[in-house]
Amino acid sequence: MPTVFNSNLLNDICSSLATDGYAVIDDAFPVTFMTDLQLQVKSIEAGQFKLAGIGRAVGFQTNSQIRSDEIMWLDESRAENQSYFSWVETLRLTLNQRFYLGCAEYECMFAHYPVGAFYQKHVDTFSHTAVGLSSHRKVSTILYLNPNWQPDDGGELLLYRHGEEQPFKRVLPELGRLAVFLSEEFPHEVLPAKRPRYSLTGWYKTKS
Ligand code: OGA
Ligand code: MN
Repeated sequence: MPTVFNSNLLNDICSSLATDGYAVIDDAFPVTFMTDLQLQVKSIEAGQFKLAGIGRAVGFQTNSQIRSDEIMWLDESRAENQSYFSWVETLRLTLNQRFYLGCAEYECMFAHYPVGAFYQKHVDTFSHTAVGLSSHRKVSTILYLNPNWQPDDGGELLLYRHGEEQPFKRVLPELGRLAVFLSEEFPHEVLPAKRPRYSLTGWYKTKS
């Protein structure tokens, strides 16, 4: 049975992006879909996760001083993921129509922050790598997979405005919570997690 996604979700995302540049939406997807994602991420063997990098291709480097999460790309061929990828495609078309973003692709990965892992303040466009590459990322999406996340568990996503020292928004990575933001607009960081922290993280990109 293909998963049926909430028809208001696209509109909710777009209206928040239009007014604020970001959206944080709880219980965005059906429970059955979230349960399947949790099962998928738990079935990934420790050795299959790869240390996350900064920059790509020629500029690719890992630097555990900047980030210490591990990633694994989502399997597009897996039957359970088809409904998600078709929803992702609908959102891509909607975003392009509403905001003239010209996004052509979506890339998507599971991220795992082991205890103590973090991701220092950055923007998702890689401009911080100083290797002269741009990732063409336009919209970031993060779907959290952690039931009963408590404030004491750390691992918060902090959103900043350019040039500001203090975050204007803190997001706990609670199961079912979806964060979407314009990739170039918001520097952000992940505080050290005190328990394993999982998410499905993706980016809409223009063609590179
Ligand atoms: C990223 C990122 C934030 C989060 O992977 O680029 O910033 O809350 N993730 O997981
Ligand atoms: Mn990021």
